[in-house]
Amino acid sequence: MVKNILKNLELIKNVFYVGYVDWEVRNFHGYSTHKGSSYNAYLVKSGDKTILIDAVKRPYFKYFLKSIKEVCDPKDIDYFIVNHIEPDHSGSFPLILPHIPNAEIIASTKGVDILEQHYHEEVEAGVFKSIRAVKEGDTLDVGNGKTFTFVPIPMIHWPDSMVSFMSDENGKNVLFSNDAFGQHFATSKYWDDENALSEIMWEAEKYYANILLHLSGLIKKTLPAVGALPIDIICPSHGVGWRTHIPKILEAYTKWSSGEIDENSVVIVYDSMWQSTEKIAKALSQEIIKRGIPVKRFNLTQSDYSDVITEAMKAKAILVGSPTLNLGLFPTVAEYLCYQKGLKPMNKIGMAFGSYGWSKGAVKAIIEELKATRIDVMDESIEIQFVPKPEQLDFKDIVDKLVAKMG
Ligand code: FEO
Repeated sequence: MVKNILKNLELIKNVFYVGYVDWEVRNFHGYSTHKGSSYNAYLVKSGDKTILIDAVKRPYFKYFLKSIKEVCDPKDIDYFIVNHIEPDHSGSFPLILPHIPNAEIIASTKGVDILEQHYHEEVEAGVFKSIRAVKEGDTLDVGNGKTFTFVPIPMIHWPDSMVSFMSDENGKNVLFSNDAFGQHFATSKYWDDENALSEIMWEAEKYYANILLHLSGLIKKTLPAVGALPIDIICPSHGVGWRTHIPKILEAYTKWSSGEIDENSVVIVYDSMWQSTEKIAKALSQEIIKRGIPVKRFNLTQSDYSDVITEAMKAKAILVGSPTLNLGLFPTVAEYLCYQKGLKPMNKIGMAFGSYGWSKGAVKAIIEELKATRIDVMDESIEIQFVPKPEQLDFKDIVDKLVAKMG
């Protein structure tokens, strides 16, 4: 069975795809990957030099090796550039080493440290003798007019992350960007313009919200150095490559890393035990919609956090509701708030609501979590005992205050 539809695709002259398209994965360390993913790796030929860029998740090593062998003899690989050490890329690192005995390994200075911390057995076996640590601006001339320039991009996604920029006097300038500009998206068509733009931009946005959002401050500082490169093509380590919509993805990263909100919308996130908190959520959303403000409402038992945080990243206000359970939060709401706190969405207004029986607790806990996320929490909140009466679901005043605060 052919498992890897993209294998050995010559993307441009002498640049080959040797990664793995993972149609099956639906959970990537907690991130829901409804449309699969890919672990993109590349092989570049330049005269008598051969350069391997990144690897794949360990379970897919055999496909990776087979793809490489269909392009070249692995013994002919001169350089193995390891842009990032997270195991979705470096998992096959120890397995490929015996097949590429003549390759010099290249990683960022931090990458060398982290490689050593991951692959202790290889350290003991002495395979790290042929490793080169590179810093910003270091270059590798591979002949035939091709040069690689290395640019560390710390925290996009780990401290070790770097991009490799290949300039080619006679061809295209290619940015091998690793996680940056990636999407968890399996496809049989590699290029951006061969896929629906709205679909790949949604996946890029979801990737940013779930993986990179909390690193936005650093990303904002790093983007100008990447954007200044004369890029013709971006080859990321997940999802499609960018050749037509590069300005669009760069512009999107600038917007997301700045915390810009593109619409004055509201996200309502809640869960409910006996539909009382749900009644509040529905009444709130109806009152906000009446003002012409877009609302997206998510019941956390039915929705996954990765999708919700993607919508929350774009919204102006996040309203969070929970029934009180055992003096505290309903578990799904606690989990979501914990996830959201780690990702640190910027420039948000927050409000808490919920129902309770004989003791309160959930609304106070929501407010504490929103404040810990540096969300601008409204003084007003909604807390209703047992089942809300119709008159208790009249939220005109509180929504007036919300709308005024949203501006
Ligand atoms: Fe795709 Fe940070 O690994």
